Amino acid sequence: MDPSKRRVVIAGNWKMNKTPAQAAELIGELKGAIREPACDVILCVPFTDLQTAVGLTSGTPLKVGAQNLHFEKSGAFTGEVSAPMLKEIGAEYVIIGHSERREYFGETNETVNKKIFAALEEGLKVILCVGETLAQRESGITREWVSLQVKAALCGIDQKQMKDIIIAYEPIWAIGTGKTATAGQAEEVCFYVREAVSELYGLEIAQGLTIQYGGSMNAKNAKELLMQYNVDGGLIGGASLKAADFAAIVGAAK
Ligand code: PGA
Repeated sequence: MDPSKRRVVIAGNWKMNKTPAQAAELIGELKGAIREPACDVILCVPFTDLQTAVGLTSGTPLKVGAQNLHFEKSGAFTGEVSAPMLKEIGAEYVIIGHSERREYFGETNETVNKKIFAALEEGLKVILCVGETLAQRESGITREWVSLQVKAALCGIDQKQMKDIIIAYEPIWAIGTGKTATAGQAEEVCFYVREAVSELYGLEIAQGLTIQYGGSMNAKNAKELLMQYNVDGGLIGGASLKAADFAAIVGAAK
């Protein structure tokens, strides 16, 4: 597929930032700054901001997502939030398998896979995160590692369900460090992601898949990263918390 036909998606990952009042303020600014984006724009906000975000973005091009879910629908899982809860509150997307969740909250390829099933079953769209550590990169196993993460996460997911999945390649060493992957490094690993998807589902589905780069993407480096053949968008942490910066990244995605 001609990459210009792939859906380009810029998503903000607010992480554990913004109270509902602060979220309302930022969304107000974003609505002013992002009027007719040339790409899809998603705000992945904390659970406690979802209701505010869904209300304030209705009728605008901004879409709303969560940052995690539990794979069970309900039950004795203190502190957790399920896919039906996210769906009912109006979230359209959910980030699954972010490296911070894998690192600090015991998420594994197996739980990531279960969470993807739970999200898709409820009609939520998924942003699946994969990426290598610096040690893995330096020992030369990035391709194997990332392809294993992709294949394990998608285990049992059928071809039709792939239309509701975006994959974000986020090198762990680049997240929140100000150390961005070079455009060449981002392109190379996004290609490995597409290659892994192609091995599972064939070339057509792989070519149609939206693959984002994430890791210190900002208003300055976005354009070059987004120009790469296999990079179809960005997952933005720090720079998504400032309306002008985030809007500039959205503007770079043409
Ligand atoms: P960063 O975070 O843009 O602050 O590096 C990206 C992410 O973790 O999704």
